[in-house]
Amino acid sequence: MIDSYGREINYLRVSVTKRCNLNCTYCGAQNEKENNELTADEIEKTVRAFALCGIDKVRLTGGEPLVRKDICYIAERISRIDGIKKLALTTNGIRLKECAGELKKAGVRAVNISLDTTDRERFKSITGYDGLNKVYDGIDECERVGLSPIRINAVLIRGQNDSDAESLINIARERKIDVRFIELMPFSDEGDNDELVIKSDEILQKFPFLKPAAQKGTAFEKSVARYYESEGFKGRIGFITPISDKFCSECNRIRLLSDGKVKVCLGSDEVIDLKPYLCDEKLLEEKVRDAILSKPMEHKFSCGYGASHGLNKIGG
Ligand code: 5AD
Repeated sequence: MIDSYGREINYLRVSVTKRCNLNCTYCGAQNEKENNELTADEIEKTVRAFALCGIDKVRLTGGEPLVRKDICYIAERISRIDGIKKLALTTNGIRLKECAGELKKAGVRAVNISLDTTDRERFKSITGYDGLNKVYDGIDECERVGLSPIRINAVLIRGQNDSDAESLINIARERKIDVRFIELMPFSDEGDNDELVIKSDEILQKFPFLKPAAQKGTAFEKSVARYYESEGFKGRIGFITPISDKFCSECNRIRLLSDGKVKVCLGSDEVIDLKPYLCDEKLLEEKVRDAILSKPMEHKFSCGYGASHGLNKIGG
């Protein structure tokens, strides 16, 4: 449906849990415990209401979605909902090797894998877990079972992993995988982090062989990422730039949190609780409509204001 600012909202991100099996330095609150996750049935009911309001694309996120034992069941239920044309998943990749085949069978198509470094020691120091090889095995398994497209999302932080840009870019050189750099957003309690953010211009200057890719009329047209390509590359390089170049006027998304609250904008603290309406389909649909209509015109990150929900609870 169309929101109050003329944007067509058709994309729902569903955080199925706040829990995560990693502990990344920049992700906000650590070691979340949670006992108020929606059940698979409740998630299905809620997504059904969103589908009635024009949502046709769903992405499962977390926390880490693959820590939920019933994740494939959830995926299967969502992919069967009338109107849902595309089901995708964002994961840290640790459990992907075990899950990829089942996820594919359950109707998942696209997989985004969060990976900030190609260095085993650095992976351990960023995430608190010696798991780089598990992530690589997970990526291989996605390719093997035919999940597609496969993308890598990387957050570069000055002084921490900026030197990984080249090796991450090389993944797109060698494999049919898009590698996307996301600008660090201010979600930790430390407030302003301007000097830590690596903007796309800086990366493009360092790697001048990257040329803008045609986006109009392609499957990438609606993406919030700007894509670049280079001769001989099998994948593309993308930039997601919520800080240096707001894409709010193109925003087509809304977020369901794991406890049944809807977050209307990543950069705002406003949430609408759907849980009280789960037993009344009509009312639930009405509340979903209200939530979509309450999306603000734009986020406020660039004013030194960050939302207080850690990204670990929102799923990006
Ligand atoms: N800024 C930008 N991206 C972030 N992510 C997690 N925290 C931040 C942050 N502070 C990314 C993860 C993952 C996606 C869900 O969000 O790396 O790819």
